Amino acid sequence: MSGEFAAPKGIPDYYPPASADFLAVREALTEAAHRAGYGHIELPIFEDTALFARGVGESTDVVSKEMYTFADRGGRTVTLRPEGTAGVMRAVIQHGLDRGQLPVKLCYSGPFFRYERPQAGRYRQLQQVGIEAIGVDDPALDAEVIAVADEGYRRLGLSGYRLELTSLGDDTCRPRYREALQAFLFGLDLDEATRDRAAINPLRVLDDKRPEIREATADAPLMIDHLSDSARDHFDAVRAHLDRLGVEYVLNPRLVRGLDYYTKTTFEFVHDGLGAQSGIGGGGRYDGLMKQVGGRQDLSGIGFGIGVDRTVLALEAEGASVAGRGRVDVYGVPMGGAAKSELVAMAADLRAAGVSVDLAYGDRGLKGAMKAADRSGARVALVLGDRELDERTIEVKDLTSGDQRRVSLDGAVAAVRELLAD
Ligand code: HAM
Repeated sequence: MSGEFAAPKGIPDYYPPASADFLAVREALTEAAHRAGYGHIELPIFEDTALFARGVGESTDVVSKEMYTFADRGGRTVTLRPEGTAGVMRAVIQHGLDRGQLPVKLCYSGPFFRYERPQAGRYRQLQQVGIEAIGVDDPALDAEVIAVADEGYRRLGLSGYRLELTSLGDDTCRPRYREALQAFLFGLDLDEATRDRAAINPLRVLDDKRPEIREATADAPLMIDHLSDSARDHFDAVRAHLDRLGVEYVLNPRLVRGLDYYTKTTFEFVHDGLGAQSGIGGGGRYDGLMKQVGGRQDLSGIGFGIGVDRTVLALEAEGASVAGRGRVDVYGVPMGGAAKSELVAMAADLRAAGVSVDLAYGDRGLKGAMKAADRSGARVALVLGDRELDERTIEVKDLTSGDQRRVSLDGAVAAVRELLAD
């Protein structure tokens, strides 16, 4: 490390060239959402602490251990958003979006904050693209949300992931199941911390990775076997839609999410090239959230959050580069003051025509400037010296083939566009 300051621990910077992959991933995912009719929503970076405490759930690690919470200068307790769903629901209620056409379909992207222990693929500032569809409880919509994520990943060329799917039931079957699971867990010889967890959130115990707990809970009752008729019908319909859409999944009845609001359909996209932090996206339906955060009606919703950082890492693990292109299409190399002012003007013309251009600034000589042209990833170099300028011509060099030809200054823009169109 050099310099007096470093970014706060666990907070990544995104800079070229890797930032191009980051942008390409975010764009592909939001594009998939927009194509399915999800409109952009821009949410505040911080909200009332109580919104997340009530929305995400007091017993979750996210709320109890990981929130960046502070008092503002007016003494209000605010929290940097750890996730997007609670904020979307707050905005939907506040602006009465639920009184318009349903479902309300929204898409967001940006940073979220969780005070987790930093490691590869786990950051304290993480980037997500998320969508939420609120107000209609239709299994076809569950399938759409899942298919949008799947389509986003596939467009990026990602292939080594799997979709894990389950149903967490509804408020008729879940309380009964919880009792059955607790009765089972309290019959086991568990350590105190695990017992406490069983008392607060028994589902979490099924997600315990320790072999001895896995073994002890091998015969634990599973939600999927205790669904109410309506939750079972809903889940069967979601699966039928996914089959029809050709979206493959595996059932994981032990799937446990880190947020409390999930009901019915719940899913996670898992990539095996990432080590411990294998979840590249996840989501599900949330029946009670609107009431939970103060809505007058209680509309169901469904959505996902995709980890942009982890999706970039997954692409790297597969050896796929998404951005692929150079920084610019064209690189201008002026030799001398008059040539520079000519190229500065030509760069502006090319940019206005939609071509990306950079110039060698700072009079570094032909060799250095041509090296910079190569490093920029440009397809074309424009070389202009005093002699060419006197003749009102310019050298146009195809940096892929090495071919070079001289064209008139007036014809330069057309010549560049022709080369780029190849
Ligand atoms: P989540 O599973 O907590 O869900 O986060 C979604 C994704 O964000 C994860 O699958 C992971 O890829 C990424 N992510 C989470 N924490 C980190 C971290 N510390 N570092 C890097 N990436 C991370 C939600 O946030 C829900 N709001 C999703 C949702 C929307 N459910 C319904 N609608």
